[in-house]
Amino acid sequence: MSSSLQEIYDGFAKTYEQNRDQFDMSAILATFFNQLNHQQDALLDLGCGAGEPVARYFIDRDWSVTGVDFSSQMLELAKKYVPEMKTIHSDIREVDFEPDQFAAITASYSLFHIPANDHADMFRKFYTWLKPGGQAMFTYATKEYTGSNEFDGYKEFMDQKLFYSHKHTDDLYADLENTGFSIESAENINIGGETFLWVTINKDN
Ligand SMILES: C[S@@+](CC[C@H](N)C(=O)[O-])C[C@H]1O[C@@H](n2cnc3c(N)ncnc32)[C@H](O)[C@@H]1O
Repeated sequence: MSSSLQEIYDGFAKTYEQNRDQFDMSAILATFFNQLNHQQDALLDLGCGAGEPVARYFIDRDWSVTGVDFSSQMLELAKKYVPEMKTIHSDIREVDFEPDQFAAITASYSLFHIPANDHADMFRKFYTWLKPGGQAMFTYATKEYTGSNEFDGYKEFMDQKLFYSHKHTDDLYADLENTGFSIESAENINIGGETFLWVTINKDN
């Protein structure tokens, strides 16, 4: 029987320390952070994993961070690396928050693991949960990673078959704009040999 994504990430937690520095996101995080409209506010990090590097980066700059992840083992690591983060053990599709709670939302290397058909719902939730002037950043899979303009299937990562899903970028941008977001930037960036689309969106004041 094949393992669920949750089980695979629980397994990855065991080798996390050996692979800790494989993906250097410092430039992306700095770019996002430096253009935020709110300062020293609240961040929601969806698919937070071990709390690195995103939660660590924000907490070091006096933000409060809520992290959501469905892997209990990754959250155990987060307790060790980022004890200041408030964690919620849940599927990111199942959490809910009051409107206007967060000045920023991140979904770093996580949104592409949920079916593309659920992405527009997630964006509507981002819009509700963000304060006016709030911004979100997420990693999106595209043709550069999956080989297709649209994809729903499995790709190998660290000897495991992981589910990835994405729409055509034109459909992604339409979903974002229909939700009310303006697209600040969308750029293909190669980190550690993997190219993904990094998207920053704004909820206007
Ligand atoms: C590649 S890791 C990224 C971790 C971290 N955000 C980073 O940038 O290094 C993906 C994380 O998303 C979590 N994840 C994937 N799908 C999820 C879902 N539907 N609900 C909650 N967490 C999910 C996994 O458990 C894993 O910790």
